[in-house]
Amino acid sequence: MSPLGAVTLDDLEDDPHQVWHQLRAAGPVVWVEAVNGWVIVEREAAVKAMRDPVTFTVDDPRFSTGQVVGPSMLSTDGATHDRHRAPFVNAFTANALADTIAWCSTEANRLVASIADQGRAELRSSIAAPLAVSTIVRTLGLSGVDDDEVLGWYRTIVAEVEAIIYGGLDKDKSLAANDALAAAVRRTVTDNPAGFLAGAAEDLTTTEVASNVAVIMFGAIETSEGATANALFHLLTHPDQLATVLDDPALVPAAVEESLRLEPAASAVDRYATCDTELGGASIRKGDFVQVSLAAANRDPAVFADPDDFRIDRPNNRLSTTFAYGPHACLGIHLARAETIAAVTAVLRVLRGLRLDHDHSRGPRGLVFRKAAGVSATWHSGS
Ligand code: HEM
Repeated sequence: MSPLGAVTLDDLEDDPHQVWHQLRAAGPVVWVEAVNGWVIVEREAAVKAMRDPVTFTVDDPRFSTGQVVGPSMLSTDGATHDRHRAPFVNAFTANALADTIAWCSTEANRLVASIADQGRAELRSSIAAPLAVSTIVRTLGLSGVDDDEVLGWYRTIVAEVEAIIYGGLDKDKSLAANDALAAAVRRTVTDNPAGFLAGAAEDLTTTEVASNVAVIMFGAIETSEGATANALFHLLTHPDQLATVLDDPALVPAAVEESLRLEPAASAVDRYATCDTELGGASIRKGDFVQVSLAAANRDPAVFADPDDFRIDRPNNRLSTTFAYGPHACLGIHLARAETIAAVTAVLRVLRGLRLDHDHSRGPRGLVFRKAAGVSATWHSGS
């Protein structure tokens, strides 16, 4: 790692946790040159900032996702945010998702059965990724749209968001994806007038519904794939914890929750100060960029004992900030948990003698979205 003060984006992409542990000594809110802003590294200050959209807003022209998909619940605050988010809330409650959640288990079992005879596979690409895409495609119910088309739009959005951060934005590409998505929303509203997208279209324009659908896709695919890949990686690299879960599969949700704490798939959320303010002893100026590090908050030693350990019996891992707090708290929290639990349950139930192929696996990495780079595993084939 580079000397502190000279922390680089590469350090943060590789292993931010040791950086945050050291920077925490300087206070809960520290200036990090590499991100050109303040980073919140303690849980209390993180939750406070996320709950205060008047002082720490997402509504800023610098916000990358807003530039690509247009205004949505993710890039607005106050009454405008409520207007964008409200039409979708009922469709994402645990009750409303009951059928989808049951379907997730069936689909996870089908995916695992399809590789069982092979005796080896990379589990992120063969299980986590396809489950993440097909779950959100099914949930959105877009007329005449299949997994591949949604994946194409999603990849365009991701590439364009990255282009804003690293340079090279091709506005035509994102406009084409946005247009295709808006056309699909229009079709769906006509074909399924009782569906939740038609309900949303009563309060929002088609373009606004499409922007929010884009944000839902964006929010759902990368993170859910990462959450499943990370949970499998954590279990396979902790044989004692794996053995405990294999003995008692009812512990899968606890293992997933601990993995979500240890390596939140979305490791940070971005805010902008609307006025001069003070947080955790830091004097923040109007317009300053403020990054809430969920990864750092989740390993705050004042809240989580031995924070770097993966312990499925940790009593308080539900205090993690993985799904954010405040008005922008994750809309898909029930789906995300259910999907990850379904995938891990199916893998552990079906693939006997499961082991990590260390030579072809690599743990979580990434600047914002952190996911295991490869979870190659072997098992008794035909199991
Ligand atoms: C393990 C998987 C997931 C993780 C770790 C995760 C994490 C997050 C986080 C941290 C935020 C807050 C963003 C912010 O405050 O700026 C968020 C918001 C959001 N998430 Fe998730 N998410 C996951 C899965 C999903 C799924 C499956 C959906 C599908 C509906 C989804 C949809 C959204 C939406 C629409 C927002 C924006 C809410 C708003 O701004 O009002 N997420 N998510």
